[in-house]
Amino acid sequence: MEKELCISKEAIQKRVQALAKKISSDYEGEDLVLIGILNGAVFFFADLMRAIRIPTKMDFVRAASYGSNMQSSGSVRLTKDIELPIEGKPVILVEDIVDSGLTLSYLKEKFEQRGVSSLKICALIDKLERKEKDVFVDYCGFQIQDGFLVGYGLDCNEEYRYLPEIYRLK
Ligand code: IMP
Ligand code: MG
Repeated sequence: MEKELCISKEAIQKRVQALAKKISSDYEGEDLVLIGILNGAVFFFADLMRAIRIPTKMDFVRAASYGSNMQSSGSVRLTKDIELPIEGKPVILVEDIVDSGLTLSYLKEKFEQRGVSSLKICALIDKLERKEKDVFVDYCGFQIQDGFLVGYGLDCNEEYRYLPEIYRLK
């Protein structure tokens, strides 16, 4: 499939540093847990966590909502859960991209029920065209109007994840 450059490596890294700086100051002195959403968020998660200047812990979930195509199936299910205890702790869910909002609204509700002290959302990309479910992204890397994006962890049928920059499929 044809693709065009959407966000350069440099632009990604600049935004990651800015988000990390903000998170570091917002959570100073707190026992922050970062929960990454597999698989798409892995590179973003790793770059973000290394750029945050306060001690943090990591864990991961895997949520299935998309089939193998570019359309949301409309239902979300957890196929891998976290292992760290998070009760009473501040948590940030780290996601690659918010499209319909279904995945994050499901995960947000699920983790809020587990007695965390606070739950915020950090997403590299917030797509503006969608929003079946309105989800507020507390820490947002980029707002993108539309299109299907790949690279820097984002895939289309498991392809393109390895690319260091983000492209729009044509
Ligand atoms: P949701 O529609 O907000 O629930 O998004 C579900 C998941 O679909 C996200 O976590 C991404 O992994 C994936 N996704 C949504 N939009 C894109 C895209 O443009 N490119 C690649 N993956 C996407
Ligand atoms: Mg994902």
